[in-house]
Amino acid sequence: MKVAVMGYGTVGSGVVEVIESHEKVIKKRTDGEMLEVAHILDLRDFPDDPHAALFTKDFNDILKDEEVKVVAEAMGGVNPAYDFTMQLLQAGKSVVTSNKELVAQKGVELLATAKENGVNYLFEASVGGGIPIIRPMDQCFAANNIEGVAGILNGTTNFILTKMIEEDMSFDEALRLAQENGYAEKDPTADIEGFDACRKVCILASLAFGKHVYPNQVATEGITNITLADVAYLAGVHGVIKLLGQIFYMNENRIAAFVSPAVVFRGSQLASVNDVFNAILVRGDAVGDVCFYGRGAGKLPTASAVVADMVDAAKHTERRKIFGWSEGAEDYVADYRDCIEMQFYVRAKADQQAVQTRFHDVKFLSRRGQPSDETAFITDAMTENTLRKKLEGVDVINIIKVTNY
Ligand code: HSE
Repeated sequence: MKVAVMGYGTVGSGVVEVIESHEKVIKKRTDGEMLEVAHILDLRDFPDDPHAALFTKDFNDILKDEEVKVVAEAMGGVNPAYDFTMQLLQAGKSVVTSNKELVAQKGVELLATAKENGVNYLFEASVGGGIPIIRPMDQCFAANNIEGVAGILNGTTNFILTKMIEEDMSFDEALRLAQENGYAEKDPTADIEGFDACRKVCILASLAFGKHVYPNQVATEGITNITLADVAYLAGVHGVIKLLGQIFYMNENRIAAFVSPAVVFRGSQLASVNDVFNAILVRGDAVGDVCFYGRGAGKLPTASAVVADMVDAAKHTERRKIFGWSEGAEDYVADYRDCIEMQFYVRAKADQQAVQTRFHDVKFLSRRGQPSDETAFITDAMTENTLRKKLEGVDVINIIKVTNY
């Protein structure tokens, strides 16, 4: 079967490489059908690439090629990926994607268009890189009420935090290494400010609870405020800092979801997830906690998930995979600051007595080289709004949520 690839960056070139290097195994899984890359769309020139003859800058070469039945979109960004995907689905071609920004923003429309046209829109690679999570979330938890999800969803930030925690490496050096390894987004702001993890939270929440969640509904905080001082205080109580996406089921009509740095204590499955690895912990009422772990970014792991979707789409040209959710609503995602109780790590310029008078029960932390006017502590469980009220007038340096996963 003829296929096409749109975008020849880290993921797109990985897709072509995996299709070629894994021809035998793919053939077995498609009942003898080969995936033959007929076009590669990219605006850049790749004169020395062995696939030079396949390159095109004209999207119509793919759209108008009736033999092309499956297209991998690895362009990233909403435009023009949205427009291209829409046109392909309307033309009766299945599209598979690693583009989490597009699925998070436009998933509900694209899935509806795929349904109307009897084709597939698949996006296993959009969350967790090579980790199978979309199908399990959609299918394997069908007999559960999902109570919550907590995930380390961004490889770049997990790599940076691991280097800071384990090797005392500076933030900038760790980011540079992550970029060299092909983990980071084109603009790494999306990684370090949490936007990439936010998009993945939207996709997981939409799948888990059946209504579209948009990125602007998910409060998002990145890792740029994390310092080695915070790392050191928490090391004393066997805690590590991870960038977590968390989703809480509240009732039929409401969920809470946010992305932020979070303290995870040793003993949690999430605490030992290091480097570029991601992990997604899903809590179901029948099954309990289930944890999915693997490489969350990088060329071949992500391409592995994209090509698996291509194989699935190639095998199901006459049958649709039933992925989908309904339109979201403005008040569907609650403000977690009002309603989710959790513990907090706080570092402040204050003395312990001043802290003690505001909080009944706190655990004070210490570190080597602690300035005499600095106090760090972990609070009892409370909402973030309650915490902020209690801290009014205190010179706070940093606040980090503590997760209960
Ligand atoms: N930049 C992303 C990450 C790539 O670091 O996780 C995979 O989505």
